[in-house]
Amino acid sequence: MNQDQLKQLVGRAALDYVPAGQILGVGTGSTVDCFIDALAASGIAIPGAVSSSERSTQRLIKHGIPVLNATEVERLAVYIDGADEIDGQGFMVKGGGAALTREKIVADLADQFVCIADESKLVQTLGKFPLPVEIVPMAAAQLARRFAKLGGEARLRAGVVTDNGGHILDVTGLSITDPLAFEAEVSQWPGVVTVGVFARHKASVCLLGGADGVKTLKF
Ligand code: A5P
Repeated sequence: MNQDQLKQLVGRAALDYVPAGQILGVGTGSTVDCFIDALAASGIAIPGAVSSSERSTQRLIKHGIPVLNATEVERLAVYIDGADEIDGQGFMVKGGGAALTREKIVADLADQFVCIADESKLVQTLGKFPLPVEIVPMAAAQLARRFAKLGGEARLRAGVVTDNGGHILDVTGLSITDPLAFEAEVSQWPGVVTVGVFARHKASVCLLGGADGVKTLKF
């Protein structure tokens, strides 16, 4: 199976976690696109979804699934999203699609984070994938200096403005051995909107697609 087929496989597997009759949190990315298509085809009835990006919103609407504003919802039972990296404890790097801020907001509403990913995303230590950080543009140079002190090299993602009007720094060269401490530290640097380490909002479950099918990792 190629990577696209694995994404479709885990997208379908995630249907088992959709709480019928309840509002669902929906993430962003190519794996989530597969999930949204599978959800639409499944006939599972949900009253609507809270979406983490304009991209997913458009896809949900195209399939006739109502999209609710996050401000209208007090809690979600389940949030389903992909990841750029996930480790053996359920800690993740996210934001390759620049949707990390809304993803963390929707994840914060949810009791359970179901991560869907192909097996290439499973890592020992987070940091090989360039870490996305949504920032306020005027802080870019100072934040790059701060990351350099941690051994990272920060580059502004050219031509990208997020759904919130922010910019994205991609930071290479990091080895994130303590995701909880790293997220707590970077999140309080002035000018950081959201760091793409999801440690406090880690996965509860990961459906990992590989040659032998879907493995379920529970954290
Ligand atoms: C979006 O900003 C990201 O957090 C995605 O969830 C992540 O990049 C996974 O995307 P793919 O499913 O396209 O690999």
